[in-house]
Amino acid sequence: MAGSTTRLSTVIYGTATLNTENHDTTLPPPERRAILRVMPQPSDANLHGDVFGGWIMSQVDIAGSIPATRRAGGRVATIAVNSFTFKQPVFVGDLLSFYADIIKVGTTSITISVEVYAERQRMEAEVVKVTEAILTYVATDDQRKRRAIPPV
Ligand SMILES: CC(C)(COP(=O)(O)OP(=O)(O)OC[C@H]1O[C@@H](n2cnc3c(N)ncnc32)[C@H](O)[C@@H]1OP(=O)(O)O)[C@@H](O)C(=O)NCCC(=O)NCCS
Repeated sequence: MAGSTTRLSTVIYGTATLNTENHDTTLPPPERRAILRVMPQPSDANLHGDVFGGWIMSQVDIAGSIPATRRAGGRVATIAVNSFTFKQPVFVGDLLSFYADIIKVGTTSITISVEVYAERQRMEAEVVKVTEAILTYVATDDQRKRRAIPPV
């Protein structure tokens, strides 16, 4: 907001510190377990050295498919990326943590929320939320046809 002072505060997160200046401050609680952790390599970067959005999207799809596959009791196919927001850039060497939660179970579909946090410059760790997305998966059979999600 024009004329307001920028407030910088920090949150200790595991061994890392969250810089909350202009960032989403909604961190996963420390006990929340990442479903996937991965570090982008130089081959995942564009000409400017930032990581390709498409690379991040594929990792998000993989992360979301893990709880979907477990809940479906077998194979799933991604039918929709309902929303996808790149909130902050991702850099080569960031340690990315993917958190995936089931937010809806339908007749044949499972909708998953995926949040991605980057631990930057891991010697002086800073954690920022870089991506959030919602994806829908459909349980499929051996013929790649939709099938009902089994009861819990
Ligand atoms: C997955 C597939 C077998 C589903 O078959 P379909 O006949 O299209 O299925 P439907 O239209 O009945 O939709 C199935 C479910 O997905 C949901 N769905 C469909 N489109 C959706 C969308 N855009 N957003 C959210 N959910 C959606 C439906 O509501 C339904 O959910 P429900 O059964 O829980 O109510 C088929 O669409 C397919 O093979 N798609 C390609 C999948 C793929 O290859 N993915 C990888 C991309 S490279």
